[in-house]
Amino acid sequence: MIVLGIESSCDETGIALFDSQKGLLAHQIHSQIDLHADYGGVVPELASRDHIQRLTPLTQAVLKASHLELSDLSGIAYTSGPGLMGALMAGASFAMSLAFSLKIPAIGIHHMEGHLMAPLLEAHPPDFPFLALLVSGGHTQLVYVHEMGRYEILGESIDDAAGEAFDKTAKMLGLGYPGGPEIARWAQEGEANRFRFPRPMTDRPGLDFSFSGLKTHTLTTFESTAKTPKDRHDVAAGFQQAVVDTLIIKTRRALEETGLKRLVVAGGVSANQLMREKLHLMTQKVGCDVFFPRLEFCGDNGAMIAFAGLRRLEAGERNTLEFTVRPRWPLSELKAPASTL
Ligand code: KG4
Ligand code: ZN
Repeated sequence: MIVLGIESSCDETGIALFDSQKGLLAHQIHSQIDLHADYGGVVPELASRDHIQRLTPLTQAVLKASHLELSDLSGIAYTSGPGLMGALMAGASFAMSLAFSLKIPAIGIHHMEGHLMAPLLEAHPPDFPFLALLVSGGHTQLVYVHEMGRYEILGESIDDAAGEAFDKTAKMLGLGYPGGPEIARWAQEGEANRFRFPRPMTDRPGLDFSFSGLKTHTLTTFESTAKTPKDRHDVAAGFQQAVVDTLIIKTRRALEETGLKRLVVAGGVSANQLMREKLHLMTQKVGCDVFFPRLEFCGDNGAMIAFAGLRRLEAGERNTLEFTVRPRWPLSELKAPASTL
């Protein structure tokens, strides 16, 4: 079975072809960073317009790279939520029209299930069950993954997601968009211990996160300095360290409480080098295996959607023509493939 995967929930158009026999055949990602950079964040209307322009040429490009024709496709998977309404609609309409004209099945995929599945695209994928730390621009969650589709949320952010905290903090420090890679870059030359930053909610029980106070603390700290480049480097380093420490303390707690021996880390923030290094150290200490997606699949991409879609389509799931998108969609509402049939 050859599945076309389409991701368009936010500011990246991702298209991929996944073959059940041969694995990933080709993938393309078009990032809208340049389009939104002047605005310091994603402008939903511009995002939708750009997705519409990119979907067809990127689909042609992955077909060409795989030496395939549209008629070789056996199914289509697209992100149907959560995300920006217009952006989701662009991908969903394209996917459903193409599936309708080719008379092949299509399936809407939960964006975070896509992220969760991304490490399973690698050579040594984790077995189920595992603990997942999902860290993206919209989500920060610790999830007990019993099997694909059976997700138990153990903890999540009660306010900003980790990626969102990076983005907002970068903006406050006068750095570029998206904030995560910018902060990480500035932090490289910074002295992380010059200022004191809190590790929010780590001194009380539970697995929830809160990053909004840390963001305000960072602004107050930066305002108290002369705002020299060195101040920016040091504040960025201290902030990054605090976010990473907080994520790691809670993840370790979740591993100890559940007794799970496998950890999957996914979503845009999982590209953060400091976090990857510290998670390797922590998991070694507690005797657990850690799995990351390759760097290009940490952020949004079509491969993860094609892969999750393949599993659901193979189990017999498909959309009806009365499809819809869900800008808000709790991960815990999903079911294991085909258990809904
Ligand atoms: O998964 P993703 O591409 O999109 C969403 O589903 O939200 O995640 C994007 C988020 C952004 O907030 C971005 O700043 C953050 O991931 N990010 C990073 C890094 N690279 C991307 N955060 C920290 N360090 C990074 N290296
Ligand atoms: Zn994402």
